[in-house]
Amino acid sequence: MASTVLILGAAGRIGQLLATAFADAGWSVRAQARKPLPTALARHPRVQPVRCDATDVAALTAAAQGASTIVNALNPLYTEWERLALPLADAALAVAKASGALLMLVGNVYNFGRELPPLLTPATPESGDVPKARIRIEMEARMAAAASEGVDSVVIRAGDFFGGPGTGTWFDMALAPKIGQGKITYPGNPRIAHAWAYLPDLAQTFVRVAEQRAQLHGHQRLHFAGHTLTGEDLKWALEAQTGRTLRISNLPWTIIRLASPFMPMWRELLTMRYLWERPHALDDSALRTLIGDVPHTPLPQALRTALVELDLPAGTSSKLARA
Ligand SMILES: NC(=O)c1ccc[n+]([C@@H]2O[C@H](COP(=O)([O-])OP(=O)(O)OC[C@H]3O[C@@H](n4cnc5c(N)ncnc54)[C@H](OP(=O)(O)O)[C@@H]3O)[C@@H](O)[C@H]2O)c1
Repeated sequence: MASTVLILGAAGRIGQLLATAFADAGWSVRAQARKPLPTALARHPRVQPVRCDATDVAALTAAAQGASTIVNALNPLYTEWERLALPLADAALAVAKASGALLMLVGNVYNFGRELPPLLTPATPESGDVPKARIRIEMEARMAAAASEGVDSVVIRAGDFFGGPGTGTWFDMALAPKIGQGKITYPGNPRIAHAWAYLPDLAQTFVRVAEQRAQLHGHQRLHFAGHTLTGEDLKWALEAQTGRTLRISNLPWTIIRLASPFMPMWRELLTMRYLWERPHALDDSALRTLIGDVPHTPLPQALRTALVELDLPAGTSSKLARA
């Protein structure tokens, strides 16, 4: 019998790709969202929309009946984490507790705080020296603690997203939009390494890990390495894709700092600026031990697809040609 997964936040950036990846792999997918799913997803024969709020534990517990896996792909607005991140995570945990399903979380690198070391392993000490780090540490600590009540859970931690649907990532908001004008806007030191996750690869990785359900007991943390790139690496790769010479311009952090008292989102971005000044990469040894080869699209192909999705294809693209 096909396995069933409940995806929380299925209309989101990674959520849409998770729903498609699980469904294409033969799983029955229950896809939670407050709004209608994108048409292609809603029409997938193995995807069943679950239209409710992500804090509606009763509705979600009903939707999780018979599911072996629940994926928490929720993400409150950046300015709302303080108020909503833990209640949303608690709701997901309550549903996992009630249903007996494996709870999977899309993790990020915030847990390691401002002084994060260059290589992040699942055993790297965490540090709550930034508000968003404290929130992520607490989310995962609650998952770990629930193991004593029989909840199995796994965090798959990844770097900054690129590729896939929607907008709102550093890649599509800062780096890519001005390629047509011959520049990429980079938020930090372009000579230090930064962890990136190509979303289709990350979604496939969730499926591959979920397929190992029988081995996943208690609480586990796995790191998805993705692509570790400096800003200069990205510039060269984008030049190769677009056939254009690109220059790196710096994100105007001074303006962002000056305006931050009046711009809540900019204030939040400022608190995470350190991630662009600290080299970091994710060590995926534990992930490889569990699933073998990790899905990994070569960078040129991943960038090409990401640019096409942004209507910024290489060479003869519509937007580049117009620019
Ligand atoms: N973005 C990155 O670069 C990145 C990198 C590493 C890890 N992550 C992690 O990956 C996870 C998913 O991130 P994402 O960027 O894919 O998320 P996203 O697209 O920003 O949001 C996912 C979904 O969260 C739901 N949501 C937002 N606010 C909500 C609220 N107040 N109540 C209920 N649902 C709410 C929305 O569902 P509706 O459709 O119902 O509105 C939305 O579609 C997060 O844990 C994030 O920290 C992100």
